[in-house]
Amino acid sequence: MDNNNVWRKDFPILDQKVNDEDLVYLDNAATTQKPKDVMSKVANFYYSDYANVHRGVHTLAERSTEQFEAAREKVRKFINANSDKEVIFTKGATNSLNLVAQSYGEENIHEGDEIVISYMEHHSNLIPWQQLALRKKATLKYIELTDDGQLDMDDAQRKITDKTKIVSIAQSSNVLGVINPVKELAQIAHSHDAVMVVDGAQSVPNMPVDVTDLDCDFFAFSGHKMMAETGIGVLYGKQELLEQMPPVEFGGEMIEFVKKFDSSWNELPWKFEAGTPNIAGAISLGYAIDYLESVGLDNIQKNTQAIVDHVLPKLLDIDDLEVYGPKDPANHTGVISFNLKGLHPHDLATGLDMEGVAVRAGHHCAQPLMEYLGLSATARASFYLYNTISDADRLVEAIKATKEFFKNGTV
Ligand SMILES: Cc1ncc(COP(=O)(O)O)c(C=O)c1O
Repeated sequence: MDNNNVWRKDFPILDQKVNDEDLVYLDNAATTQKPKDVMSKVANFYYSDYANVHRGVHTLAERSTEQFEAAREKVRKFINANSDKEVIFTKGATNSLNLVAQSYGEENIHEGDEIVISYMEHHSNLIPWQQLALRKKATLKYIELTDDGQLDMDDAQRKITDKTKIVSIAQSSNVLGVINPVKELAQIAHSHDAVMVVDGAQSVPNMPVDVTDLDCDFFAFSGHKMMAETGIGVLYGKQELLEQMPPVEFGGEMIEFVKKFDSSWNELPWKFEAGTPNIAGAISLGYAIDYLESVGLDNIQKNTQAIVDHVLPKLLDIDDLEVYGPKDPANHTGVISFNLKGLHPHDLATGLDMEGVAVRAGHHCAQPLMEYLGLSATARASFYLYNTISDADRLVEAIKATKEFFKNGTV
């Protein structure tokens, strides 16, 4: 893939100047931009078909319900779940992971049990388990990382034992640019009768995911990181587990019968979808999936890999720039974290913004990881399908310019 990126034109927001420079948007791990086509289809839904779902018998309610449930079916196919009952619409990955902790966790974790996560988890896949462990007097265990930021699978084998009830790991790191072997981890977890939860927030937008093949028990992701709207996400769960789990939110949509002093619950997936759902958000996710499928996840991977192959050696070549995660581009995703010696990452990110290059700086919602690495923060560039080799070159040039600026500024 070269600089003639055929998808870029679908993202009008990219065509603007920031600080008098052409914008280079490299904050895709935080959130992705939206294709024109997806947004205009959502606008058309509002203009032509919008009504509340499920309860109405009038034509707009039926159209709206049809499109909402069609979006669920698109998600099911996209991640290869066995049934629509296994696809629960949530607010996002965070909401999905909290749902598992509060429902499955609340029922199945007891004093002395163990929950295993890793040092590279996002707070969304850490705090729900930490708080569950505190509530239940269970133990939270962290799988160590290797020197180049990969999951230490020997340590995973040691930490996952017959005491383990839940293993929860990100399929792709939002800081270190690594992909974790979650299928293998699911096998280890199952050999100890533990369930496997996968945080797919960074993987689903970037690589084909097949939850049936992974044989994970739960899988969480967010729409806004894959070109859909904010406020919509998915929890996949195996039907036999979801059937047994209690709802965590109560109200409309999720009930079968309500009596004065007792109630019974709707069938899956609606048992977990209390209240009016994010109808347009779900529909936007369906259209975003159509868009992703029209591009092809293999093409997205090829585009990102070509950029990483090009830019990682250049970044490693910059004096005083420390790059985290694997140094071999073949093992690095499009999420690249780095620090310039002597400069706070916020200053670095501000310097890059002056050059029109948007990156993130901070702890990336991974404070235990920062502590583990002995850092307070990093800058992070993350690439997506509309980025090009020349965007990557602009990043390199902007880092060099920022380095020079601060060097001269402090002389
Ligand atoms: C690995 C990972 N997990 C979970 C999340 C949380 O996603 P959301 O804020 O959309 O719920 C993120 C967001 O950055 C992430 O990168």
